[in-house]
Amino acid sequence: MAHHPFTPQEQAAALPLHTLALRINGEQRTVEVQSWVTLLDLLRERLRLTGTKKGCDHGQCGACTVLVDGRRINSCLALAVMHDGADITTVEGLPALTGAMGDGLHPLQQAFIDHDAFQCGYCTPGQLCSAVGLMNEGGVRHDGDIRERMSGNLCRCGAYPQIVKAVAEVALADAARGGEAP
Ligand code: FES
Ligand code: FES
Repeated sequence: MAHHPFTPQEQAAALPLHTLALRINGEQRTVEVQSWVTLLDLLRERLRLTGTKKGCDHGQCGACTVLVDGRRINSCLALAVMHDGADITTVEGLPALTGAMGDGLHPLQQAFIDHDAFQCGYCTPGQLCSAVGLMNEGGVRHDGDIRERMSGNLCRCGAYPQIVKAVAEVALADAARGGEAP
């Protein structure tokens, strides 16, 4: 029988670390990660940004949605090393996007409160980041667009009607002001 000289732990320890320069919620960070570390685990486990949630860990629920260079992605499916140099925004960084300071909230966060758009709140950070990404993409005209384009974000509590109302309040007003991309 073949003899393996190294245990899996020894082999992992021998693999090189990758140094990444990331801008996270407006702050420049340098981190060292193994090649297999997901962006989600880097954010939650290493940087203690636990607002971003791990639901399915398989790209199916949207709880882990964050913004990378303004575009929404499932961070559980993204390897951190793929995003060296990226500008990342998590739910913790949303207020700063609108210049809100201190206890200020992003308008979407306020709209979620105003419309009772969450129950347990576990899906909410992903819903919020996804909604910001949707607004960045532009072209939202009505509730149907919002339902379709938020469909990658599941809510086990079923708060969908209120979520759509909250997103519509902000996204449709933004679109009416010409905030959508051409
Ligand atoms: S945790 Fe990433 S999509 Fe579910
Ligand atoms: S509010 Fe509970 S999962 Fe959405």
